[in-house]
Amino acid sequence: ELGPYRHYMQKEIFEQPVALANTLNQALAAGFAPTLFGEDAAAIFTTATAIRIIACGSSYHAGLVARYWIEAYTGMPVSVDIASEYRYSQGLEQRGTLIIAISQSGETADLLAAIRNAKERGEVKILALCNVAHSTLTREADLSLLTQAGLEIGVASTKAFTTQLAALYVLAGSLANARQTLSEAQLLELANWLPRLPAMISAVLSQESEMENWAQALTHFEHALYLGRNTLFPIALEGALKLKEIAYIHAEGYAAGELKHGPLALVDEDMPIIVCAANDSLFEKLMSNLREVEARGGQIYLIAEPGCEAALPYVKSALILPISTGPLAPIVFSIPLQLLAYHTAHRKGTDVDKPRNLAKSVTVE
Ligand code: F6R
Repeated sequence: ELGPYRHYMQKEIFEQPVALANTLNQALAAGFAPTLFGEDAAAIFTTATAIRIIACGSSYHAGLVARYWIEAYTGMPVSVDIASEYRYSQGLEQRGTLIIAISQSGETADLLAAIRNAKERGEVKILALCNVAHSTLTREADLSLLTQAGLEIGVASTKAFTTQLAALYVLAGSLANARQTLSEAQLLELANWLPRLPAMISAVLSQESEMENWAQALTHFEHALYLGRNTLFPIALEGALKLKEIAYIHAEGYAAGELKHGPLALVDEDMPIIVCAANDSLFEKLMSNLREVEARGGQIYLIAEPGCEAALPYVKSALILPISTGPLAPIVFSIPLQLLAYHTAHRKGTDVDKPRNLAKSVTVE
């Protein structure tokens, strides 16, 4: 069943082009049509007053990415909450708030409690994003979209996470479409990235051996720092989570601009720093962060889009992606970070598919 792969996680990483194509199939046919999410979606999307995203773990990181997309494309206020915090917090929901609940399993206890709680706080609608049809979450939601990742066996999420991101990008486009916050040409430009995604992911998967090289270095460290800006900030959080989960190496993700506010004090030659760089308007800002780190002896491992070569003098090692990633950067950059965590864990000999102390689905509080 594993075919040429050693672990389910590795197999699932390589299934991502197909999982993404399957998830996007319907969306590609429909364009950014709100009906993808349910019959009432157009009306709910147009009248929504605010958006609150609720999730746990990797699904929460997907929600953090979605905030950037939805705010940029719709101008709506978006907040993102961890389900276990939201359920015990206080406050009312503004009438017309659209709650987006993200969960691979649709059975996470804290998330189910959070959406039930949200319904008590005001007149809200619930939109579920889930990888399991007929889950408790989809049954309790007003609207839903299923990701088509297929069964994921590895406890550390890979294809379920990137398909969530793809579905959230479609959601952001559909909200913009319903609310007419973007021109036809802008919507088309966003939509045109989607059919290219599976091939983009395949191209990055073919760089696996570079991540095996980095993994060899990473096994010798006890800590690692992951940095990114904009949609790549949550991907830094997710990369750090993967390394903690399966390689048992303490890792933290930070917004690159936060370095000066504390974590720069940690930087020395024993702290590898993995940086995700998009070739966008924030690249110059990121460059100055790299200079700060380099000046303090930090060992930078850079993953970058083509066009970011000016950063090369500051880094120990660089992976230049074979393609430009545009607004899909967070999906594409997830791949090398998954491979890096996977190969580091494999080298350390941990139980990659069943890391200690963790369960695939957290159905108790
Ligand atoms: C980490 C991971 C977890 C889950 C979290 C929520 O790799 O998979 O952090 O994302 O337990 O689970 P779901 O998405 O099923 O609600």
